Amino acid sequence: MTSRILHITGARPNFPKAAPVMRALDALQVTQSLVHTGQHYDDKLSDIFFRQLSLRKPDLSLGVGSGSHATQTAAVMVALETVFLEQQPSLVVVYGDVNSTLAAALVASKLGIPLAHVEAGLRSFDRGMPEELNRIMTDAVSDLLFTTSADANVHLGREGVAEEKIHFVGNPMIDTLLQSRDRFDASELLAELKLAPGDPYLVATLHRPANVDDPAELAQLVAALIECSAEAPIVLPMHPRGAQAFAATGILNEPRIHIVEPQGYLEFMGLVSGSLGVVTDSGGVQEETTMLGVPCFTLRPNTERPVTITDGTNTLVTAENVAATLRDRLTRNQTENRTPPLWDGRAGERIARILSEWLEKQ
Ligand code: UD1
Ligand code: UDP
Repeated sequence: MTSRILHITGARPNFPKAAPVMRALDALQVTQSLVHTGQHYDDKLSDIFFRQLSLRKPDLSLGVGSGSHATQTAAVMVALETVFLEQQPSLVVVYGDVNSTLAAALVASKLGIPLAHVEAGLRSFDRGMPEELNRIMTDAVSDLLFTTSADANVHLGREGVAEEKIHFVGNPMIDTLLQSRDRFDASELLAELKLAPGDPYLVATLHRPANVDDPAELAQLVAALIECSAEAPIVLPMHPRGAQAFAATGILNEPRIHIVEPQGYLEFMGLVSGSLGVVTDSGGVQEETTMLGVPCFTLRPNTERPVTITDGTNTLVTAENVAATLRDRLTRNQTENRTPPLWDGRAGERIARILSEWLEKQ
């Protein structure tokens, strides 16, 4: 059986991006299949998204698991080569900037299979980030490039991508947010933490290698989080990447920092929606906080999502200034309701329309 479109997903941030695209393609009755590489495999980083977002179960799971960059990327490539040769898809669609994205892009392009990249053109201009390399290389071999913000179009143009390949469609992760908003619910978690509805709290997430892999850097960040917790207690859903290193800093004994498991999407979004602000190094969370009007303090020297600063609630901070910046912002208590262009819940539909017209022309 030939699938016309084969979607490749692998890690937590891929799922909320793929769900609206696949739903919209279903509505257009396009034949499609979903491959899960298995880069993420814990229920809370993977399966729960399929249940909560009504994302169809993977048609194929490759089960590659964890490993070094080379090991993981190579394992996905080897497994996908067989899949692509067997299925001969008309088009492969990849999402975001994780290792599974790059691996699929390389295999598809070497086999001459057309490739679409959702969330193309984002650039932090920091090649020390593994994701930046994945973005640049994926975009270089993509045939259809779907962008979430106008700056991405500019970057792609500068890198020599032909204008007709680039489509500014908005942000499918925001489609998922808007479609699921009525179901956001952190009440159970907050009750477990003995936080009453309406009690002030902050949320934190940290998982970037530059922040959590170096014990000295992490110790500084933990000291900064302790300072922030003077403003309000912090709930920190712990990504497995940082878990051991965090434990070694003694953060688990901090009375005003609640370390919890990674949360399901609906629980996490409920948590963020009800918070005073979020301290994070996540890419997706910078966008979601902008959409929800929740102040976001990004512990990074750069962002590939500058639209969340110019048109949203995001501020770049350091370990040294995060507590003061947060205090200042909370004191001003300003409400933010700016929304980046085309973050309107219809990106999936736009992508699906372009893909289906493209398929018809083949
Ligand atoms: C990956 C992405 C990153 C993305 C993040 C989203 C790359 C290079 N990085 O980072 O861009 O922001 O996902 O969450 O693709 N682990 C588990 N359970 C799992 C998966 C991983 O315990 O289900 C642990 C393993 O010890 C593993 C480590 O987390 O070695 C890192 O996982 P990996 O997928 O390599 O990278 P992330 O840090 O999750
Ligand atoms: N997320 C979640 N539970 C959590 C933390 C994050 O559901 O405990 C969601 C978040 O809302 C967003 C996605 O995971 O939709 C972002 O993934 P992550 O921060 O892991 O990756 P990044 O966006 O940095 O690549």
